[in-house]
Amino acid sequence: MYETALVIHNALRWVAILAVLLVFLRAMGGSMSSRKINSGDRFAGLFATIVVDVQFLLGLLLYLVWSPQTKTAMQDFGAAMKNPELRFWAVEHAAVMILAVVFVHLGKIFARRATSDASKQRRTAVWFFLALVLMVLRTPWPGMEVARPWIRM
Ligand code: HEM
Repeated sequence: MYETALVIHNALRWVAILAVLLVFLRAMGGSMSSRKINSGDRFAGLFATIVVDVQFLLGLLLYLVWSPQTKTAMQDFGAAMKNPELRFWAVEHAAVMILAVVFVHLGKIFARRATSDASKQRRTAVWFFLALVLMVLRTPWPGMEVARPWIRM
């Protein structure tokens, strides 16, 4: 189950990052050209939110149930904080990604409360951009100190 979850979590990272990027680009473009919100914007926003939520749930299951990294970290949390790899999985990756998920939802909530299309698009662009930055910063890209493959088979 652990291996399968890692394969899916790895692949879904691409869908999540690209979906959030697409929402950001559409909202930016729409706000700069004063375009009205259309069904494409609504679909892109809903799709990105669902994918990010599924990625969050899978990450939570990895964290709480399947990952040997977090299991080791939980056995001695203090010692894990001195180990860069264990600290990354036990704290940095999870906390920053949870914040990214919160930002996506804040974007949806604040956009829903806005009274004009221009302000909806501005709010969506800001919150999805912040979520995107966090997701890109704390993904374990190849070449980083804690690195994972571009795609896992
Ligand atoms: C929402 C955006 C997220 C993205 C883009 C993302 C991305 C990734 C990637 C690329 C990996 C490496 C997979 C591999 O080894 O092939 C990974 C692993 C992992 N992620 Fe996430 N993740 C996200 C959210 C979360 C959340 C919210 C949690 C925890 C609450 C989490 C916990 C984990 C854990 C525990 C691992 C596996 C560590 C291991 O056993 O090796 N992730 N994540």
